[in-house]
Amino acid sequence: MSNKNLSLAKERIKFLMLEGVHARGIDELRRNGYHNIESLPTAPPAAELAERLRDVHFLGIRSRSQITAEALERAEKLTAIGCFCIGTDQVDLAAARRRGVPVFNAPYANTRSVAELVLGEIIMLMRGIPARNAAAHRGEWLKSAKGSHEVRGKTLGIVGYGHIGSQLGILAEGLGMRVIYYDIAAKLPLGNAFGLGSLAELLDEADVVSVHVPDTELTRNMINADTLARMRPGVHFINAARGRIVDIPALAEALRSGHVASAAVDVFPAEPKGADEAFVSELRGMDNVLLTPHIGGSTLEAQENIALDVATKLVRYSDNGSTMGAVNFPEVSLPDQANTRRILNIHRNEPGVLQAINSVISARSVNIAAQYLQTLPDVGYVVMDLETDDTPGLVRELDRIPATLRTRYLN
Ligand code: NAI
Repeated sequence: MSNKNLSLAKERIKFLMLEGVHARGIDELRRNGYHNIESLPTAPPAAELAERLRDVHFLGIRSRSQITAEALERAEKLTAIGCFCIGTDQVDLAAARRRGVPVFNAPYANTRSVAELVLGEIIMLMRGIPARNAAAHRGEWLKSAKGSHEVRGKTLGIVGYGHIGSQLGILAEGLGMRVIYYDIAAKLPLGNAFGLGSLAELLDEADVVSVHVPDTELTRNMINADTLARMRPGVHFINAARGRIVDIPALAEALRSGHVASAAVDVFPAEPKGADEAFVSELRGMDNVLLTPHIGGSTLEAQENIALDVATKLVRYSDNGSTMGAVNFPEVSLPDQANTRRILNIHRNEPGVLQAINSVISARSVNIAAQYLQTLPDVGYVVMDLETDDTPGLVRELDRIPATLRTRYLN
């Protein structure tokens, strides 16, 4: 099909962007030929949202819009949802999948922001800045080199060498630190970092310990009285990962005793829901602790990266059918098709469904140039590049297969 037809089709594709999605995301959609975009600054109430969704193909939200099964019920045209944020708890992911709607987010768009904050904190802690700052605010003048160190040549122990941990390691090496890490999975060391076989070995050696693991059963309270005692006397500790990784009373005790010289903590087991709720923590009031309100990933650059990342994923799904990065859907990475027509079929994963799909194609003697299939227990996603001119006719027939949830074709 010609480019003209392609752009006409794009004109009909409606995007609804809620909660003031960053302009960078909307620019990216426009740059790719999508101009039918409505952007609202807020999250509409449930009834209004359900009504608006009736003629929307792509929905962009941030964290406040609740996309429940009911909200999706009449969203017959909805093709994909982009969460322009990190989390996706606000969407009923299973309900979306059962309707054939992939959900995308941007889990790693703020990696650099967290790594930079932690890098700054390493320097602040090793110079004893939190305590000197607190004292100066009270009119005290702690002008001494006691307990102050350059970071150059010191050992940074990174627990969890994933996106953030590994990027932090590279940045810290730039300052001349020696980087060691421990990860539950085998990880290729970047730069001159050195992987260790156990958490205990890392704690034995590190001058600064920074945790960058997810919140799982294994990591909950992994920093506790025992692991704190294993750390070197005078160690500095940083948590910008998840609150429940650290046993806060045990950390407070280690800070009071001086075994842990200082800490920087960005995340807490219980965090206020908003600005009008008080922040309660045993760490409050301790001079040697740098407290931040879960802002490790909160920068304007991260906001922009998130917008670009999610918009790119929506464009890719719309233009090419690729679902890489979907959080609730079979992930298929697709090449662009050449001289063929692409049909995308989403179906309930039932016995015989692929055979039914292939029968429709072979009954018309259409050659399948390529076929890609991925399944989850309840939903399958098959993409076919076909040598035919009659994609609309085939789509109509594929839609008649009882297990089909949705079929669309690309030009
Ligand atoms: P990631 O998934 O890329 O890396 C996590 C690493 O931890 C993986 O390499 C994994 O193998 C490892 N790991 C998992 N369980 C482990 C265990 N029991 N022991 C040792 N290693 C283990 O995640 P990413 O993006 O690097 O994020 C790290 C943490 O930072 C997460 O908890 C994330 O929620 C948090 N985060 C905090 C932000 C903030 O605002 N403070 C912003 C963004 C992320």
